[in-house]
Amino acid sequence: MQVLFKVIRQNSNKSPWVQTYTIDVNPSSTILDCLNRIKWEQDGSLAFRKNCRNTICGSCSMRINGRSALACKENVAQELARLAAITEQRAEQTPGNFPAVEVPQPEPQSLPLPEITVAPMGNMPVLKDLVVDMAKFWGNLQAVEPYISTAARAIPEREFLQTPVERAKLDQTGNCILCGACYSECNAVEVSSEFVGPHALAKAYRTVVDSRDDATESRLEKSNQGIAGVWGCTRCFNCNTVCPMEVAPLDQINRMKGEILERQTETASRSVRHRKVMIDLVKQGGWIDERRFGLRVVGNNFRDLRGVLSLIPLGLRMLQRGKFPETFEPSPGTQEVRSLIESVQLLESASPSSMTETVSKSPTSFKAEPYDQLQPKFGWTPYAELTNGRFAMIGFVALLIQELLTRQDFFTWLGLW
Ligand code: SF4
Ligand code: SF4
Ligand code: FES
Repeated sequence: MQVLFKVIRQNSNKSPWVQTYTIDVNPSSTILDCLNRIKWEQDGSLAFRKNCRNTICGSCSMRINGRSALACKENVAQELARLAAITEQRAEQTPGNFPAVEVPQPEPQSLPLPEITVAPMGNMPVLKDLVVDMAKFWGNLQAVEPYISTAARAIPEREFLQTPVERAKLDQTGNCILCGACYSECNAVEVSSEFVGPHALAKAYRTVVDSRDDATESRLEKSNQGIAGVWGCTRCFNCNTVCPMEVAPLDQINRMKGEILERQTETASRSVRHRKVMIDLVKQGGWIDERRFGLRVVGNNFRDLRGVLSLIPLGLRMLQRGKFPETFEPSPGTQEVRSLIESVQLLESASPSSMTETVSKSPTSFKAEPYDQLQPKFGWTPYAELTNGRFAMIGFVALLIQELLTRQDFFTWLGLW
């Protein structure tokens, strides 16, 4: 099939331009195969990175049809199908879409060629065409010291041993091939030059859960520093979506936040307070009492006078526009919301990552209880437990009535005995 490739080309510090190439390809060809053919057969000046051609080295990351991906992983057929699905979805979502009207179809030879757009990764300056300068990406990785620290430990004569369970904790984060796709799509990196990026934080978490590492506390403290660390993440989910190796950096960031929150009190910092107070208020009222939220998070419960004063202009504007809630009504279903939060907290505290040594290394009073002791008696939530208990009680009473009325036990009554 013939495909039109639109390549966003650029020379360092110059304006980009779009160059088109038409090639005859097999639908199963990877985008990297196509770029190679363009380079070898049509334009030797086209620059892009590649190495293994097998989703291992992470060199060929670029934006393909608008999102960062590995050129050696995606193929032409998949890309065209993805594009068609997006176009269809957009058409459905466009307001005022009327039922399709029969229109005369153009002759097959005049149909436009399917198009694939290729551009350099985002959040990094372009050196040439699809090649970007990844110096900051590597620098940010270096900043989290992505290697096991054994400074304070006696080095064994041969090697540090790990159990299979300890090793399994490294599987997901260990899959990172440092391709840069997550960094390229990260909203937090785009707006803040301080944020170290999803790749670095995923790697930091990998060292935090590594049983051989002895710098857990200092690593967590480093990741807890303002918007450079975990609190800079906007939770946009892009990194999880584009990562070709399913490292799920956002999940690792969330786990790291969990470890930090276990160790910190509400007064530690505004970021920590924000998370703890939000959960606390939602548990109390089913949704957030914004008046108390502001005072507790920004005003640190009247400990931070400047914070309290900073709320006054906003409070006055809200009052003026009639948006200041005078009273707080708990939401209907507060009990269910609370049950859900408690169930998630229970499951999180029982997850393999928090049952690790890293938690037992914690200086706080977090209790790592054995997993089987954390299972609720009925179902997964206190709400389900209550409901299941009621059903069991109703069933028991129904059986009792049936036996009293028939003077037979249930199974004899059914004719089974
Ligand atoms: S986390 Fe995923 S997307 Fe990010 S650098 Fe590693 S492999 Fe690439
Ligand atoms: S979820 Fe956080 S780390 Fe991931 S891309 Fe979005 S802002 Fe960046
Ligand atoms: S060339 Fe190595 S990952 Fe694509």
